[in-house]
Amino acid sequence: MITIKSDREIELMRKAGYLVSLMHQFIKPYIKEGITTKELDKLCEEFILKHDGSCSCKGYEGFPCALCTSINDTVVHGIPDNTKLKNGDIITIDVVIGYKGYQGDAAWTYAVGEVDNDKKYLMEHTEKALLEGIKMVKPGNRIGDISHAIEEYANEHHLGIVHELCGHGIGREMHEDPEVMNYGIPNTGPRLKPGMVICIEPMLTFGKRYIYLLDDQWTVKTQDRSPAAHYEHTVLVTDDGYEILTPRLD
Ligand code: MF3
Ligand code: CO
Repeated sequence: MITIKSDREIELMRKAGYLVSLMHQFIKPYIKEGITTKELDKLCEEFILKHDGSCSCKGYEGFPCALCTSINDTVVHGIPDNTKLKNGDIITIDVVIGYKGYQGDAAWTYAVGEVDNDKKYLMEHTEKALLEGIKMVKPGNRIGDISHAIEEYANEHHLGIVHELCGHGIGREMHEDPEVMNYGIPNTGPRLKPGMVICIEPMLTFGKRYIYLLDDQWTVKTQDRSPAAHYEHTVLVTDDGYEILTPRLD
């Protein structure tokens, strides 16, 4: 069931989303060579709790941490540990924060020091693929329009699209209906209505699209070890378009 949020709920989701944005802005200067992903997780957890948020990832189906930290060929759901960031790495920080019962969810990929041109290209065009998807958000359009816009942009830029993972509705729960695939057919799927809130989140690779799951049952990596990027926003359908509830503050 796709829920339509009331004005009161939208106001709370805006606050949850803004807290997600603040946390990304807070952690950015710490993303440097030598810091461990566990240290990043601890800093963020403290930040979230200090701002009256809750760490929705922690304990979600047993996930142990506040953040997903996914380095280089890890696509999503990397578990914070003692791995130190190295110059030239890319790391995706994905977080879901609860605020007064509502969820905000955003991921973006960061460069550690100087990264090579392939990784720069991957990051730039994965974020642009997300923005192409977001541009399709308005009442009357359908989920397939978003999916198709992302697919077309990724194909034009010769990036692999991870098929097994997708975006989702969000509200009181982190994952609600509908699913928002990163490939699809225009004019198919549920129709967008004002008050719906969805997470759009392309996961693109510099090589082939195929992935595998590590034995920890969380970490998803590319089979060919090519780097992957992941950008995600929580997006509200408004009367005439969209509002990004997790705006980038940089
Ligand atoms: N932020 C992820 C998403 O977009 C979910 C994190 S998985 C968790 O769906 F287990 F860490 F919660
Ligand atoms: Co999400």
